Amino acid sequence: MKIAIVTGASSGIGKEFVRQVGHFYRTLDEVWVIARRGHRLQELNELSSVPVRILEGDLLHEAVYERMGTMLTEEKPDVRMLVNAAGFGKSGLVETILSDDRDAQLEMVDLNCRALSRITFLCLPFLSKGSRILNMASAAAFSPQPLFTVYAATKAYVLSFSRALGAEQKSRGIYVTAVCPGPVDTEFFRVSGELENPLKKLTKVKASGVVKKALKDSRAGKDISIYGLPMKGAYLASRLLPHRLLAEIMMRFNPRDAKRRL
Ligand SMILES: NC(=O)c1ccc[n+]([C@@H]2O[C@H](COP(=O)([O-])OP(=O)(O)OC[C@H]3O[C@@H](n4cnc5c(N)ncnc54)[C@H](OP(=O)(O)O)[C@@H]3O)[C@@H](O)[C@H]2O)c1
Repeated sequence: MKIAIVTGASSGIGKEFVRQVGHFYRTLDEVWVIARRGHRLQELNELSSVPVRILEGDLLHEAVYERMGTMLTEEKPDVRMLVNAAGFGKSGLVETILSDDRDAQLEMVDLNCRALSRITFLCLPFLSKGSRILNMASAAAFSPQPLFTVYAATKAYVLSFSRALGAEQKSRGIYVTAVCPGPVDTEFFRVSGELENPLKKLTKVKASGVVKKALKDSRAGKDISIYGLPMKGAYLASRLLPHRLLAEIMMRFNPRDAKRRL
């Protein structure tokens, strides 16, 4: 049985992957989808061209990994594609987030880094030549981002992890792509806080374009997928300019918390 696995499939970018993946891999038998909101996952049956298998669960808790491990060992599927899209961000000064929601920042690390790695480790033995892993990093991975401090650091982990894993897996014919969009119009901002940075507001894009490009870049064997000219520019700037300078510029561009500190 050939399958794709998509975490964070109940909304935004993960949901869009479920919509597009059946057109990318025409021989898929099933898409296994993971998120906490089961009712949202049920709705994917109408959207997907491939039958959907639902794994409702919280990636911050043990149960979902046990169920997935059992399903993988019993059914021994050929995992053609793994998409790690579950993730969240919280914006604001580190100490403000700490006083609003004491656990949020560690949960960001646990979901964006630990859960992504754990799902990858579970799936690796079931990937075969030509299989693909797409990990949702972010343009926030390119350099340190004050006011998105922990989130940007988790995404730097995802970018580094994906590139190194890709190098290791090359000899198996397995391709790993870190997907690094700028702001995408999804429910993400309900959790992170709405965008106040004028540059970020201007560069917001739709999930469909990001996913289409990610699938194309994965097919081309690229280790990184960056959608749109502004984010390509941001990537270039992050390669050329000192990160200390970029961090200062970002702090000055943020009208809210930053003002209190400048
Ligand atoms: N939107 C952006 O601007 C943007 C830009 C760059 C990168 N990204 C990254 O892209 C990925 C997808 O984000 P999105 O924009 O599509 O946001 P979204 O619409 O909020 O989707 C996030 C997904 O993660 C799932 N999720 C959250 N916590 C979970 C948990 N504890 N266990 C299992 N699933 C969980 C959510 O499902 P449930 O709530 O149902 O569990 C949802 O399906 C994230 O990794 C994000 O960091 C987003």
